[in-house]
Amino acid sequence: MRTQVGIIGAGPAGLMLAHLLHLRGISSVVLEIRSRDYIEHRLRAGVLEQGAVDLLVESGVGERLQREGMVHEGVNLQFAGERHRVPMTELTGRAITVYGQQEVVKDLVAARLSAGEPILFEVSDVRLHGLDVDEPVVAFRHEGRDVELRCDVVAGCDGFHGVSRSAVPEGVLTTYERTYPFAWLGILAAAPPATNELVYCHSERGFALVSMRTPELSRLYLQVPPDENVAAWPDDRIWAELQARLAMADGWRLTEGEVLEKGVTAMRSLVVEPMQWRRLFLAGDAVHIVPPTGAKGMNLALADVKVLGEALAAWYADGRDDLLASYSDTCLRRVWRAQHFSWWMTSMLHRFPGHDPYEVKLQLSQLRYVTTSPAYARSLAENYVGIP
Ligand code: APR
Ligand code: PHB
Repeated sequence: MRTQVGIIGAGPAGLMLAHLLHLRGISSVVLEIRSRDYIEHRLRAGVLEQGAVDLLVESGVGERLQREGMVHEGVNLQFAGERHRVPMTELTGRAITVYGQQEVVKDLVAARLSAGEPILFEVSDVRLHGLDVDEPVVAFRHEGRDVELRCDVVAGCDGFHGVSRSAVPEGVLTTYERTYPFAWLGILAAAPPATNELVYCHSERGFALVSMRTPELSRLYLQVPPDENVAAWPDDRIWAELQARLAMADGWRLTEGEVLEKGVTAMRSLVVEPMQWRRLFLAGDAVHIVPPTGAKGMNLALADVKVLGEALAAWYADGRDDLLASYSDTCLRRVWRAQHFSWWMTSMLHRFPGHDPYEVKLQLSQLRYVTTSPAYARSLAENYVGIP
């Protein structure tokens, strides 16, 4: 097989890149180890920055997003039993949209299939060769056959556990990372969202988050110990803990409902630099991870491939390689801003095992400042809606 761009991974990064290239008349083949059904139903992130919404809409895949996405103009921070709203749109002119990552994936898969462009599911044994001589080949197995895909460029969009990153020789990449001493237990519940907008809650019992997917579905999270076993959390215990952490002086209570899904997400920060080696360009979770507290993971993945799509378009159309050469530096500026923001939100809102009462007082002081000072609130808001 031969194509211009070999794309490994059909998450938001790989699928969006394939779509942007198609719009520019550039051919690509998308390889995905999972099935279509699996990637379309995997429960992941759910908040789109304004820039990500604009990218989806402007590239023609935002129709359902505009119809079903829930636009939020504010976000709540709760601490010491009180809830404070940060009016994001008033402060920045922009908003966020709540729309599940798997919905973005569904829309992009549908666009790919209706364009009649190749996307191969359930491939296995994916290997990269020829990068050192600038003749990339992606070898893999598909439907019982060994296949070799020859391409000009490979886009490694295969997430944190993918293989692309490891095709880069030892010593080229530098990893910066941090793991946090807690995880998130997340549930999807058949319960109308108890609030109009998200609530990030600091409490003595640990962090809790109220989010949603639709007017009928709530998405809720609890800070739990790292490597927590979901079996330790029967539904009753989850609701009791959510109610305890989210309790407010005025007696407000969370709406409960049937728990449809349950899972534990590890919390880590990670950046691998540079995001390119020769003809291999890495994007999304393959090269950077953020803790979910800032809701930046999917947004960063989409932002990377917007830059990469434009750089590849300039290379194919005009033989320009300057945008490809600066791809990594351009993306890393946004990546590090999101790293700092996610780390900051995580540090401000969670209960850390080693924290003494002094550190808890500092967290509370910072929360009070960010919810009362327009200057500090604007900083939070502009990071949350996404810096253009
Ligand atoms: N070959 C082909 N595909 C692979 C391989 C491989 N060896 N390894 C992994 N994949 C696939 C995964 O099955 C997944 O569908 O690559 C895809 C990577 O997609 P994501 O993990 O969604 O990563 P990305 O597109 O960068 O989007 C980042 O995902 O994890 C969330 O919070 C994160 O919201 C962020 C988003
Ligand atoms: C979600 O709805 O899944 C969600 C929302 C906000 C976050 C993380 C996850 O910060």
